[in-house]
Amino acid sequence: MLLWFTKSDQYVFNLDAVRVPSKYPGKRHYKGPNRGKPSGNPLGKNPSDVWEILLREWDEGMWEIPNVKANHPEKTIHPCQFPIELVERCVLALTNEGDWVFDPYAGVGSSLIAALKQGRRAMGSEKEADYITIARQRMQDFFSGALKTRPIGKAVHQPTGREKVAQPPEERNNTPEEESK
Ligand SMILES: C[S@@+](CC[C@H](N)C(=O)[O-])C[C@H]1O[C@@H](n2cnc3c(N)ncnc32)[C@H](O)[C@@H]1O
Repeated sequence: MLLWFTKSDQYVFNLDAVRVPSKYPGKRHYKGPNRGKPSGNPLGKNPSDVWEILLREWDEGMWEIPNVKANHPEKTIHPCQFPIELVERCVLALTNEGDWVFDPYAGVGSSLIAALKQGRRAMGSEKEADYITIARQRMQDFFSGALKTRPIGKAVHQPTGREKVAQPPEERNNTPEEESK
């Protein structure tokens, strides 16, 4: 869940930076002065108010971003690391280039890297020294081009069902009596 607070009614929201492709881009106005003309925004539709980071179709207006698990290219020792891509979209929508992004719970620096990737300035605080060391290293790796990141907007891998891990374990095919032997 992302909570978005602003200090006043004057805030940045770059809608075009985070539009999602329309499900029916060929839709047209069926009445009124624009009858027959395309009705959708060519840049895509607004993201929905609920951004579920779960396996949902991109064309339903959801952001489909896998969380950072063992085989994710960004995985470090941090147990609850954010995907950089998730923060990147917030950075794109809610700040302008050159703005400061501050993450008071910076962990291993995912938000800071997201900000730097998008031409913003970044500042963070973190209480665990080990995480700070990793965050610094990740930022250095980002600047040297050595940091592995999951590209923004990359489709989530869909298993075909033929992979070994997609099959029930052989022992599950046994009867309960055989399993208890
Ligand atoms: C959910 S994690 C953030 C992970 C981060 N987004 C990332 O991707 O690495 C929250 C972090 O806040 C840190 N933390 C908790 N209380 C803190 C405090 N009072 N001051 C600074 N950091 C704190 C924890 O050590 C933890 O790394």
